Amino acid sequence: MPEDPGFGRAFATRLAEAGREGDASFAAPSVGVHRASTVLFDTLAATDAAGAAVAAGRWRATTYGTVGTPTTMALMDALCEIEGAGCAVRASLMPSGLAAITTALLAVLAPGDHLLVADSSYGPTRVFCDGMLARLGVATTYYEPTIGAGIEALLRPETKLIWLESPGSYTFEVQDVPAICAIARERGIVTMIDNTWASPGFARPFDWGVDASVLALTKYWGGHSDVLMGAVVVREALWPKLWAAVRQLGQCASSDDAYLVLRGLRSVEVRMRRHEANALEIARWLEARAEVAKVLYPALASHPQHALWRRDFSGASGLLSFELDRALFAPAHDEVHAHDDPGRASDRERIALAALCERRRHFAIGYSWGGFESLVMPARIDRMRTARPWTGGPLVRLHVGLEDPADLLADLAEGLEAMRRALAASGRG
Ligand SMILES: Cc1ncc(COP(=O)(O)O)c(C=O)c1O
Repeated sequence: MPEDPGFGRAFATRLAEAGREGDASFAAPSVGVHRASTVLFDTLAATDAAGAAVAAGRWRATTYGTVGTPTTMALMDALCEIEGAGCAVRASLMPSGLAAITTALLAVLAPGDHLLVADSSYGPTRVFCDGMLARLGVATTYYEPTIGAGIEALLRPETKLIWLESPGSYTFEVQDVPAICAIARERGIVTMIDNTWASPGFARPFDWGVDASVLALTKYWGGHSDVLMGAVVVREALWPKLWAAVRQLGQCASSDDAYLVLRGLRSVEVRMRRHEANALEIARWLEARAEVAKVLYPALASHPQHALWRRDFSGASGLLSFELDRALFAPAHDEVHAHDDPGRASDRERIALAALCERRRHFAIGYSWGGFESLVMPARIDRMRTARPWTGGPLVRLHVGLEDPADLLADLAEGLEAMRRALAASGRG
């Protein structure tokens, strides 16, 4: 990446100015979409020189569309500047956030290695560790995300990588990333974080000491729920390994999609602040509701790692969960048969969750998050926790969008009322 890209500028200014170096022969505020598989050369000597530069992973060198175009390279520049936040890093693009996760892990791990993964990690990350990585002979241990420096006790001679996700994107535990990275660094263990929740701008993971920040650009960077992309941003020292994996696996992203992500980036600070304000208002409102046992959102003073969040983050995005009061779903005392039939409680839960989530005016049912719109989805995490099984009540995840918060609150109030009615009709509530 270019030497010091003017990091002294304010975040909002950098968002407006990062990744603007495109085609030198045409001046416009946005870099154009350069669609290319083939890249042309004047001479064979030029192809050899470019090929050697690509093999060495030299910045902005290209021989082919999968390596880079002016549009994808502009986004890579922006990633280094925004996510790297003044640290010497390199960035590569992937077709999705999950592809970024799997490529980052494959870049470093080999048969016989041991991997530590936060128990709160994104579900498909676990599926990859338990599936393909296990098949390749990599052993995974899931650790309690709040373990902090206690992670030392889980290290083995063959531990090569610690995977973090902070906060966890379903249950929102905030990790003591600097403490974990300090221990890893002493032992030469690589640390990687899924920083999607807080990126761009609300966390500076390289200041915490991580070796790689892995992002689903699908979320806030794109910001409009119309593009799929991922990125791996690594310290310079890790770049040769990452670049080798990217080239061998053929990972790349299209210029059209890179253009959309760059376009989303320009307005992201304004969006993130609005997501945060809306989410905080909704989180506080939910906390006061009788149906809700707990709201899982690090910006709330009641969050168990609120102090850690204040220490390490400069904001909170629009993604949060709330746990419904388990008592609402318990069988009534006079329902003798309910005790004999464990299926009854989960039936009630299913009916109640459908009433809460379906037919909302503003919260649509959908996976994903980070777009402009509000979404709701039950978070079924029972089978996703192994370090410490999930014992809380039914969990509902919200992505709080950019709509007027009064409309969103009214929608949730109607949903909770509908849930109560459904529970009453099924014999409880
Ligand atoms: C925390 C987190 N990381 C990564 C991803 C994967 O991103 P993508 O959907 O682009 O594969 C997701 C998707 O929901 C996510 O929530």
